[in-house]
Parts: sequence; structure tokens; C-alpha cells
Amino acid sequence: MNIKGSTNIVGLIGHPVEHSFSPPMHNEAFKALNLDYAYVAFDVNPINLKTAIEGAQSLNIKGFNVTIPHKIEVMKYLDEIDPIAELIGAVNTIDFKNMKGYNTDGIGAVKAIEEVTSIKNKNVIIAGAGGASRAISFYISQYGADKLTILNRNVGKAEKLAGDVLNSNLINNVSYDSLLNINKYLDEADILINTTPVGMHPNVNVSPIASSNDMHSELTVFDAVYNPNETVLIKEAVKAGAKPVYGIKMLLYQGAESFKIWTGYDAPVNVMEKALKNTLKM
Ligand code: ATR
Repeated sequence: MNIKGSTNIVGLIGHPVEHSFSPPMHNEAFKALNLDYAYVAFDVNPINLKTAIEGAQSLNIKGFNVTIPHKIEVMKYLDEIDPIAELIGAVNTIDFKNMKGYNTDGIGAVKAIEEVTSIKNKNVIIAGAGGASRAISFYISQYGADKLTILNRNVGKAEKLAGDVLNSNLINNVSYDSLLNINKYLDEADILINTTPVGMHPNVNVSPIASSNDMHSELTVFDAVYNPNETVLIKEAVKAGAKPVYGIKMLLYQGAESFKIWTGYDAPVNVMEKALKNTLKM
């Protein structure tokens, strides 16, 4: 990387940030397109969030990614929030040009799935009702899914999220149930999305949220878990002849969207995917 007097700075704020895969992914992309940008990670203690945003603005930093624990709190320091990010209630990307916040996590999942199948008019099941599920649920609805079923261990949380998604008027068929009842929904589903940590390193050999016997071969199965690449759920999908979508693709496309917001250029996704795989040692 060639940092010069003219180099534009973008970066990540979180706490902690040292294990982030985003710096190499974005820096390789800048290099590939010969853009005079550099991406760095800043560990920001929550008590310093306000001054970090003000300071970044003063320093003419161009953009930030925002990760845990700042995604919600940061919204109050921005001038404008993208409508879907507003519905989600969390921001993972800031454009300092207009002090505007976006959420590219959900769009990352949608783009990953749309590499394999269109979401429009589909029947979608999503497992989990936390932050990731929330981001993905609103985007799935915006991309024209016909029906969304939110399944969670804690059914009350699924009910709350289902209500919020319905209230958005982006979709009019949203239901919820216990994750234990997943088999009731798989026959009718076109797309299954896992946002729970089931199967995540180091607990890789746990029982999957659904097994191959209950999956049909036209089902698309996306697991947001990216470590390991081949999760227990993805293994079941492959065994069933269903279409797997790997978690790394969500990381890739959320990054690609942020890149476009900051630079205005389409991201070189092949370069970014290679950098991600190197970082994740895949
Ligand atoms: P994220 O930002 O990754 O979505 P989160 O907001 O903490 O993380 O949400 C984690 C989700 O995974 C929740 O829906 C959680 O279910 P509960 O609401 O019942 O806690 C789900 N989850 C976590 N561990 C789980 C497990 N072992 N089995 C099933 N669901 C699990």
C-alpha cells in the first residue's frame, strides 16, 4: 500500500477490532482499482464514541464500518439514516460526505443468496431473532419475499421481530414459531437462512438446526456462520442435494456495498473474496 499526502482514509470502529477481516479485504480492493484510499481499524471504547465520530469528521475521514458494540448507539451522532437501516435500528456503514448511516449486513446476505436464487415471491424461513436476523429479515422483505417465517429458541423474540417486520409494510405475510418446530416449515420453504451461532467454531459438531432428511433438493440453504466454511447445516444441505450458500459471501457482499457507498465504484468482488479467504485461512 502506498500511503501519500492525498490518501483518503476509511476504516472500522468497534471494540475489539483486532480480529477484523475487513482491512485486508478493502485494502486489496483499493489496490486492484488503483484508488487512493486506505482502510484501518480503530478500537473505540464506548465512552469515546461521540468524540470518535466528531474527531473522524474533523480529520476528514471518508467512511467507517461500525461493529459491536457501536451499531445502535452511533445512530444518534449521524444526520441521516437510510430508511432500511432505520427500520433495522442499527448502522454498520457511515458515509461522512453527508453523515449518513447505512446497514449493509442484510444486503450482504441478500446478495449472497441472490447469487444462487432470486428472493422475489419466495417463501423464506429464518432461524434466530437477534441482530443479524433483524438486518436480514427487513432486506429479505424489501427484496420481495412472499412469506417470512421467523423461528427462534426464545419465541417471544421471534414474535417481536415478526411484528416489527409486518409493521414496516414491506411484506404482508410474516409468522413466527419455536425453532424446535422447523420441520413443519421446510417442505413449503424455498430458502432457509440460519443466523444462530449453531455450528460455529469451536462447537462445530453439534446437531444442526435442520437435517438433510427434512430438506428438499430445490431448497436454498444460507448459513451466516462463516467459521468453519462448511458448517454442519451446509453439510446437511449438500447431502440433501439442496443449494448451499456460504457465510463468507455475506461478509464479502456487505463489504462490497460499503465500498460502493464510500468510493462510488463497483467493488472488485473477486479480489475481495480472495483477500477474505486468505485472512480466514480458507
Ligand atoms: P447476532 O447479532 O449474531 O444475531 P444475537 O443478537 O446475540 O447475535 O442473536 C443470536 C441469536 O441466535 C438469537 O436468536 C439466539 O436465540 P435466543 O433469542 O433464544 O437466545 C440464537 N441462539 C444463540 N445460541 C443458540 C443455540 N444454541 N440454539 C439456538 N439458537 C441460538
